[in-house]
Parts: sequence; C-alpha cells; structure tokens
Amino acid sequence: MLYASMDLEHFKQQAALEAVKHVQSGMTVGLGTGSTAKYAVLEIGRKLREGELTDVCGIPTSEATRRLALEQGVPLVDLGEGGVDVAIDGADEIDPQLNLIKGLGGALLREKIVENTAGLFVVIADETKLVNRLGRGRLPVEVIPFGYKSTLKYLQKVVDVLNEGPPSEGRVQSMDVRMEGDRPFLSDGGNYIVHLNFSVPLASPWDFEVGLKGIPGVVETGLFLRYAHLAVIAGRGGITTLEGDRAGV
Ligand code: A5P
Repeated sequence: MLYASMDLEHFKQQAALEAVKHVQSGMTVGLGTGSTAKYAVLEIGRKLREGELTDVCGIPTSEATRRLALEQGVPLVDLGEGGVDVAIDGADEIDPQLNLIKGLGGALLREKIVENTAGLFVVIADETKLVNRLGRGRLPVEVIPFGYKSTLKYLQKVVDVLNEGPPSEGRVQSMDVRMEGDRPFLSDGGNYIVHLNFSVPLASPWDFEVGLKGIPGVVETGLFLRYAHLAVIAGRGGITTLEGDRAGV
C-alpha cells in the first residue's frame, strides 16, 4: 500500500499524542528517539508549558533526544535504579506479540537500557511498521570498535547457521557496517552499528538473539523481544492500541 509522507507524519503524530495520555504528573518518562518519538517529546513539552502536566522528568535515549527535550523545556534526570514509569518510543518493525526491531536511528543501546526498566513501555508507530514476522528489512547490531573485523567474522558464523537451516526459518542476505561518509557511523556510546539485511524474516527471533548476544564484542542487538507492553498504531482506519506479551507480566 502506498502512503504519502504527509499521511505518515500525521499518523506518527497521532500515535504519539495518544501515547502521551499515559504520562501523568510526577512521572519519570523514558524519551525515545526517531521521527515518531519526536512527537511525544514535543507533546510532553507542550503539556508541561501549558500546565497540563507538572513535575515530569525525562530520561532521553539519545543525545538528539536530549537536545530536543531541553529545547522543549522538559527537565532531564539520569537513569536511576527506580527506572522509568513510562517509556514512549518508535520502532522499525512490530510483530503481533509486539516484539520489535529498533535502532535504525542508531540509538538502540540506550533505548534498550531505558525501556527494559519501564513500568509501561508504549511503542508508537504508523501502521506500515506492522509485520507478521520480524526481519522484513534490516536488523542493527551494535558492536565495539575494538577488533570489530573479528566480531564481524563471528557474526557471519551466526548468520551462516541461520542460512543453512530451512529457508522458512529466515535468511540474512548480507551484512554491512553502517557508514557516515567514509567512516563507520558512531553510536552515542562510541560503538559501530552492523546491519544484517534479511531476505526472509525470522521464524524464531529468540534463538537468533541468543546467538548474536553470545558473541564477544556484540554490545546489543535491535531485537526488543517482550519489551513493549502496548503499541499505539495510527493508520488510515484511525488509532488502535494493541497489547504485547509483556502486558501480562
Ligand atoms: C532509533 O534508534 C530507533 O530505535 C527508532 O525508534 C526507530 O528506528 C523508529 O524510528 P522512526 O520513528 O524514525 O521510524
């Protein structure tokens, strides 16, 4: 289905405005990163300025979001042991259980740290992000620059195991280091991002996650499995709220 970019922007904003209704005065809020999460930060800023919310503190998941939140007058704090009451963030892919691929914006590590602590993690997206199985596009994996060529070799071994299995289990066609000009892109944590490019989506993202996380040098992956409690999805049919597997936990 084709979407005009104006429509997509509108859907992103609608999803964000709906999700911000979960933020109450006095809460600590995980502020996501990306073109959808941006609208949630703007709305929290507006509500604070207009007195609809008071005493809200934000914990940004990237330097870009830190700057935006400060511009909007959202007070920021460090992530403490109490975690966040609510986190609101976008996603690149969302499956029916609300397992996610995130991190094409390069902020997956801080996002995962913050969203893991959330009493309520609300993922927000336009309806084009919904998939039946994760792995429609790319999976970002954050790796330490030290020895990264060796880490890539071990990543390739995990990919080979997947690719040698039944085709229906998933296929990674290629792997590349995300570049910025002629240098590897650096995440906020000073790490590199490797993109695994799927040609067939994953039947078992859990097994794949375990394989990737077992490699020394891999800091984190963009698989957010059982992280989201709720998804607010906006599209042509309006706004839908879905419950994920974590909702019952
Ligand atoms: C940032 O690193 C990501 O996890 C984003 O949340 C994700 O890429 C979705 O971004 P958009 O809302 O810009 O599509």
